[in-house]
Amino acid sequence: MNKKIMLSKNIYWVGKVDDRDVPFHRLTLTKGTTYNSYLLMTEKPTVIDTVDMIYGREFVENLKSIVELEKIEYIVINHTEPDHSGALGSLAAKAKNAVIVCSRLAVEQLKEMYKLHNREFLVVGDGDTLDIGGKTLKFIETPYLHTSETMITYSVEDKILFPCDIFSTHVANYEYFNDMAKEDISDDYIGYYKLIMHPHRRYVQNMIEKIRNLDIKMIAPSHGYILRENVQSFIDIYDNMSKNIEIDKKALILYSTMTGRTKKIATIIKEEFENQNIHSEIMDVNKISKEEVIKAITEADAIFFGSSTKYADIIGNMEDVLKDISTLNLEGKIGAAFGSYGWSGEAVEVVQDYLRDSKLKVLNTSDVIKSTGMIDIEFPIRIKFSPSDVNEKSIKSAVTYTADLLLSTI
Ligand code: FEO
Repeated sequence: MNKKIMLSKNIYWVGKVDDRDVPFHRLTLTKGTTYNSYLLMTEKPTVIDTVDMIYGREFVENLKSIVELEKIEYIVINHTEPDHSGALGSLAAKAKNAVIVCSRLAVEQLKEMYKLHNREFLVVGDGDTLDIGGKTLKFIETPYLHTSETMITYSVEDKILFPCDIFSTHVANYEYFNDMAKEDISDDYIGYYKLIMHPHRRYVQNMIEKIRNLDIKMIAPSHGYILRENVQSFIDIYDNMSKNIEIDKKALILYSTMTGRTKKIATIIKEEFENQNIHSEIMDVNKISKEEVIKAITEADAIFFGSSTKYADIIGNMEDVLKDISTLNLEGKIGAAFGSYGWSGEAVEVVQDYLRDSKLKVLNTSDVIKSTGMIDIEFPIRIKFSPSDVNEKSIKSAVTYTADLLLSTI
């Protein structure tokens, strides 16, 4: 490494600037990006995050110019996505004595990804600290920012936050620090937030609460600029953009129930929408005229259609309603299917087929995973018999996701 980039006493930037058009999350980052890794040269040398796998060998070679690799005692992995953990395999092979520090959920992922089954791991959780000989690291779990295993590392004495993806920008740059940037970075910073963090904004609020009392002089994220000027203003952008705002959106939950279990699911959905400050209405399609139901559909922004399964089919008047929705202009509205069943739950699938034939944006598990990486949310919502506590939690997560979609359209 020709030029040593230092954040503070004994803290080095040891990352990689990637100034290609970078393929990322099915997009192309036309401004490139950086993979920021940091070396804390204390009595127990510690690396925080690594770089993309394709730069692994270069990364390890560069590190050698600052530290004897066998002397590295800790490698902290805040987030397992390969743009940050990608060089862990190369580094761990040379830094033979290093203990890998990560969250509980990250351990299995890292062992499998980099064949580290025989390696020593140190699992850390919220508030845990680690003495690295002259500095203290504190860990803060930040689930779903933007994947489940993510955490932040805070260097207590330096007052530097290492939040990995959080507070990042996708800009390949050789200035490294925001006060050295040649242009205003606000648009890139906000654009990154919208792309990666906004779908998880309730978790952003949790994170903001957790870091609120930390004295933060610098934020050293894992993409783009290190923030050392107007630091609080960058935190405030996340805080303001992720706050719940008053909205005028409506949810409608329609159901046709055989034993009351599908009604129970409908009730949970309604209550959770209300918890999310979204006005919601619930209707039994067998007790209200079809005209009223259709009117309510045209006035709602998200419509959940639920049916119990009987003899492998939808029950009651629900199918009549569904036949009509293909004739309506429902563009821009969200549709989802749900229902209780005892054997196979065919009705839920048939409802989903009807929704696909309409102009609704139909929620499905595949899209949730692709847009958020969250694997505990399922659409359609299929519940065997009566919703258990676990089912209730997943139903609420599905509603939360829907509420977020509604919020993101305002
Ligand atoms: Fe920058 Fe989630 O990886």
